[in-house]
Amino acid sequence: MINDIKTIGVLTSGGDAPGMNAAVRAVTRAAIVNNIRVKAIFRGYKGLMDGEIQEFTTQDVSGIIHRGGTILRSARSEEFKTIEGRRRAYETMQREQIDALVVIGGDGTFTGARALAHEFDVPTIGIPATIDNDLWGTDATIGFDTALNTVMECVDKLRDTGTSHERLFLVEVMGRDAGFLTLNAAIAAGAEAAIIPERQAVAEQIDAAINQGQRKHKNSSIVLVQEHAIEGGAMAIAKQIEETHPEFSPRVSILGHLQRGGSPSGFDRILASRMGCAAVTALIEDQRNVMVGLQNGEIVYVPLIKAIKQKKDVKEDKWQALQVLSI
Ligand code: F6P
Repeated sequence: MINDIKTIGVLTSGGDAPGMNAAVRAVTRAAIVNNIRVKAIFRGYKGLMDGEIQEFTTQDVSGIIHRGGTILRSARSEEFKTIEGRRRAYETMQREQIDALVVIGGDGTFTGARALAHEFDVPTIGIPATIDNDLWGTDATIGFDTALNTVMECVDKLRDTGTSHERLFLVEVMGRDAGFLTLNAAIAAGAEAAIIPERQAVAEQIDAAINQGQRKHKNSSIVLVQEHAIEGGAMAIAKQIEETHPEFSPRVSILGHLQRGGSPSGFDRILASRMGCAAVTALIEDQRNVMVGLQNGEIVYVPLIKAIKQKKDVKEDKWQALQVLSI
């Protein structure tokens, strides 16, 4: 069914992710090709409440596909978590004659979008963009592949010095509550172990990490630690190891926000381009409150509620592969 959406608002929200710009470009151009106007909303939901809005032409999204970060800027808004905040946002939409929203971000972004959609009957489409890859219903989120390559390159470099000094390195990786980035990077970089929240008994994971490293007559080893696997992250684990295994003097490297930066990989640019086009198609076909996802290489639409509420688990075969390959 074809509806009468004339103007789409597009925003990026939450932690930025490489490829967000490619998604903004795709939404803008796909909409304009379909005679739909595009209004860019700056600084996420804060900008929607405050009316920081500019109409975009195709030229406004020229030369951005390769750029990291987000030209729309991003923010995490406490006010939007309240009904008053969302009412202000809706009033802006009415004033600006924005008929539907495309929101690019992660879990928090979609939670806000769902509430707005529910309370004010706003057609909303989510595009998953987060380095955490923690959204159910999509095999990949925009930015994950680029961040994975960034972590992998950092670990490669740390291995050079780790090997030279025959050290145990603990590398702290982002991911909010999820271990996807940590586990995948551990496999890709040939790490000795990964410590992730999805596998319980962190103490056992630490033991295994030591056993898979120096105890096996390796001179050096690299263990990737998910930032929230244990309170205090990699620093806390280093302290524990120093106490229980005084023969080690582990070094800690916290990769931090550099994992969110950089030019998006080819995979992320293509994913963002496909998802941006698919978001506009969804609105034209009168879909609402769905997230665009990628499953087995195909674009799918998943109810926002499922994307937020259902838990995506790390793949057991990847966990096993790491154990086998780190002998
Ligand atoms: O969700 C993306 C993410 O980078 C997480 O991996 C991390 O826990 C969080 O954002 C950090 O948030 P902030 O940039 O607000 O410190």
